[in-house]
Amino acid sequence: MQVRRCAVVFVEPRERLNFDLGRLVEGGTGVEMVREWIALAAHLDDEQLLEADEVHALGLLSPDTWVEFEELAARHPRAALDSLLGKRLLIGDDGKHADLRLHDDEVRDSHWKGLSAVAQRHSRWKAIDTLEAERRFGRETDQPFLDQLGAPEAPVRERVPSAQRIGLGKPADSALEALVRQRVTCRNWDSSKPLSAEDFAGVLFRTFGARAVSDEPGIAVMKRAVPSAGGLHPTEAYLLVQNVEGVKPGLYHYHPIDHALEPLGDVAGHESAELALRIVAGQRHFMKAHVVIVLASRFRRTFWKYRNHAKAYRAVILDAGHLSQMLYLAATERGLAAFITAAVNECDIEQIFGLDPMLEGVLAVCGFGWRGELVDEVEFDPLGSVWPRSA
Ligand SMILES: Cc1cc2nc3c(=O)[nH]c(=O)nc-3n(C[C@H](O)[C@H](O)[C@H](O)COP(=O)(O)O)c2cc1C
Repeated sequence: MQVRRCAVVFVEPRERLNFDLGRLVEGGTGVEMVREWIALAAHLDDEQLLEADEVHALGLLSPDTWVEFEELAARHPRAALDSLLGKRLLIGDDGKHADLRLHDDEVRDSHWKGLSAVAQRHSRWKAIDTLEAERRFGRETDQPFLDQLGAPEAPVRERVPSAQRIGLGKPADSALEALVRQRVTCRNWDSSKPLSAEDFAGVLFRTFGARAVSDEPGIAVMKRAVPSAGGLHPTEAYLLVQNVEGVKPGLYHYHPIDHALEPLGDVAGHESAELALRIVAGQRHFMKAHVVIVLASRFRRTFWKYRNHAKAYRAVILDAGHLSQMLYLAATERGLAAFITAAVNECDIEQIFGLDPMLEGVLAVCGFGWRGELVDEVEFDPLGSVWPRSA
């Protein structure tokens, strides 16, 4: 069998606290600091704990050249090589390694910058319930939030004394200004009122729809309401439609050029909220949004141009932010409300919609619908724009 190292792996020296009952019995505190080498590979979801000789061997193996295993074993400790094979950081060319090779080849063929690939793979959540995590955090300490964390950074870094600042005039009121004033992240929904098909289609088109497609130099490029790095618009909208007139509740992909829905599966009414909750990592305040939208980016579309590029992943994430703001404004213009969250279960979403994290990565989840009449969950509305204050 020939082997080579996986395409991208970073080794992190980590220190953690370990509780050892034996040491406690011996009269110590029972607590010791453990230092470990942790391998974070772009083709593997799980982290791998490495021994020092494995770290050394890993650094000497080529990620590109296939070499006979026996030839390597003549040069490096066999036990370390066997262990690296077992930990899937060394990959064989035989049938047994076909799946692993496929995932490794995905990373190679997609022109990922190494650090970005590891950040994408290892920042994903699976089955996290943020509410449960908050409860646990609250149980572990009864200190108020500010006492626990201390004061945050000031809202502005002031570079000169106020007397030296050059005051600027504020813009006259305008339709855009009025719209922006009304934009408040929604955490209270009115499930009794379905979204009209017209509002649904209108918000989707304003945010994600293609106004034109140009293929001037032989590359098909969409014109959207928002900018995109290289004009490539890698980010797609995957929908969980929960409460829209004339649209069967279920999973869909939005086709921005045809301005059409691609059905991916029905979801029974009683299962929908549970699915939404899984998607938004247990945040009950987003569960009842009429439409939940996963922003998933086809990295290869952008990395085709920005190959192995230090800025490419950042640019894709920035693109997703623009889409989210457009969604807020498109919804707000119609008297609807919107949200975005980065606290999402990417691994669960990948499974729900059939997405591969290194090819079509989930970056955020947003959504829109009708705001409810009552404030059960706090919203940030210091201007009293959507929740008028009582005098
Ligand atoms: C990238 C990003 C991630 C966010 N994640 C969450 C989240 O996990 N949960 C949540 O309730 N709100 C989330 N929000 C919404 C913010 O909490 C909200 O924008 C902020 O409180 C200011 O309120 P406003 O949007 O009404 O001005 C997120 C916003 C952004 C831009």
